[in-house]
Parts: sequence; C-alpha cells; structure tokens
Amino acid sequence: MPLAGLLKVPTNRGGIGNLFELGTGGFLSRIRSGAIFLINLPTNDNLKLKAVLDRVNNDEYLQSLWDCINVNAVRRLGLSDHGRVHFAIVANIALKILRNLQEARVEPSIVTDHKLTDDDAEVVVFLGAVLHDLGMIAHRENHHILSVGLAAQIIPGLLQGVYPDRERAIITAEALHTIYAHESEIPQFTLEAGVVRVADALDMKEGRARIPFTAGKKDIHALSAMSIRDVRIRKSSRKPVVVEISMYNESGIFQVDQLLKKKIAGTRLEGFIEVVAQVEKDQRKSVLSRYTLGSTSDNTTEGSPPSQPTAKIITNGNANNEDRQGLTTP
Ligand SMILES: [Fe+2]
Ligand SMILES: [Fe+2]
Repeated sequence: MPLAGLLKVPTNRGGIGNLFELGTGGFLSRIRSGAIFLINLPTNDNLKLKAVLDRVNNDEYLQSLWDCINVNAVRRLGLSDHGRVHFAIVANIALKILRNLQEARVEPSIVTDHKLTDDDAEVVVFLGAVLHDLGMIAHRENHHILSVGLAAQIIPGLLQGVYPDRERAIITAEALHTIYAHESEIPQFTLEAGVVRVADALDMKEGRARIPFTAGKKDIHALSAMSIRDVRIRKSSRKPVVVEISMYNESGIFQVDQLLKKKIAGTRLEGFIEVVAQVEKDQRKSVLSRYTLGSTSDNTTEGSPPSQPTAKIITNGNANNEDRQGLTTP
C-alpha cells in the first residue's frame, strides 16, 4: 500500500466515540457504526504481523480501552489525542522507520539478542505502538508503568497460536520493554524501543493538537503543535531515516528542537536518524534546523561526514539506495 499523502486529518481527531471519518487508504478505517475500527498497516509478506494486526482489529475489548484512554486524555485532561487514531499513526510510522533501518542492515535487538527475525521485530514495534499508552485508562501519571501491567495481560492472547510459547514469551518481553521505555526519561535497551518512542513523538501534526488548542489551550506546546504542517519519513544516501518536518511558521521549532530531540536522545536510533525542519511560505522552503544526534554535532549540514551509529549494522548490506518515497503522517 502506498503510504505517502494518504491521510486526511479529521477535524475531530482524538474525539470520543463514533467520530472518525478517514478515507480509504488512511491509517484507520471504520468498518461499521459500532466500536470496531481497522488499523491499516502494510504487513507485506509478514504473516505473523498480519495475524496479530487482525487480532487487534477484531478486539472490541482492546479498542474500547483505547476509547477510555481518550475520555481521560481529551475530555478530562484537555490533552491531545491518545486514542485509536494516535495508535494507528504511531504503528505506521514505527513500521516505516523500522523497515528503513532494516533495509540499511541495522539489526533489531530481538535478532541480536534472541536470534529471532526482522519480521518478529515488526511485531514487537507494532505491539508497542498500539499498547504504549494503555495505562492512561487509569491515570496519566506513570502511565508507562501502568501500561506494562495491562499489556502483559493482553499481549499473550494476541500472540496465542501465532507463536509457540518460547517465542511468545520473547515477543511479549520485548514489547513490554518498548512500552515501559516510551517515555524519554526511561533508559532504553533495544532498537525497537527507540523506534516506538520516536514514532510516538512524530505524531505531531497539527490535527493532534487541534482539540486542546480550540478548547483554549494556547501554551507553547499547543501553539507549536498547531504549526506543524506535515511530517515525512524517507531515507537518504547518508541516513536510513530522514524526518522532514514542514511548518506553517517558526513556532513549530519548539516541537523539533525541544521535544523531538529529547525523545531521540538516548535511543539506539541516534546516528541513524536526521531531522530536518523547514518553514514553507509562499511556496518557498527555508530550513530552520537540521540535526543528527549521537554523531558529529547538531545542525549537521548537507555533505557532512556520515555519523557513527550506536547500534549494530550488518556490513554486507547496501544502505545507499536513495528513496524519496516518504510517509506523510496525519
Ligand atoms: Fe505515553
Ligand atoms: Fe503515545
């Protein structure tokens, strides 16, 4: 499924109940007027990911918990969307980032440490993406800890019959680490945890902030989030993951230079990811910020030497396939 430019942002994103009207080809589809929605994800030939995705898409209990999250997040706390649209977006971004890394022969931690496969790493990041905020059904504070307890009850069932017990236990353990460590202050052990944390942070486009903004929340977080026009993920000859963030105005730089940088720091994506922030005015683009963490220095410029990555790379791969195909987040 082509990923670029597919999603129209609903103005009621993050709302509660029967509010989503995403078109076909988006990250989320309504299949009936009840509670069940489909997350659209390019599973390609990963049959295990397809099986787990199907389980999630047919799990009314889990999807109802997602709605409970947004009652707390959006209605009671005035926060941005933490519901099913958020999880659909994070899952797609996480998969895109992970596949870019895999194409560049960056080895997922589940391959290095458990001798499982790239396909299994995709299942881990998918589970992390759709379950990381589950704890917010109870409270926002320490929700990453609460999410672990809840996800530990749900994941084994989602994997039942897809994996034998040993692999099921490993996938569960690795997914729980991504969930616990999605907050920036928690040290991370795995590449997959970095993928989930960064994907979570990249759900930053204006639509996510619209509800708190229109409800009167006009702090720097809301203002800067409202200025994010688009987020695209591609790869370049120098980096497997290039995040291009376009903004309506300069206030969006707070999202990029403060919030996103903090999220990337300390992950195993450092050195593999480049962030480029630009303002588009009158059909002209001007770069406000360009950085790569864990390598040379901030504000890396085009043509600067490649960074020194912090995760394991398989050296017989080809990481030089320029691909401008991006992913547009809603
Ligand atoms: Fe969270
Ligand atoms: Fe999140």
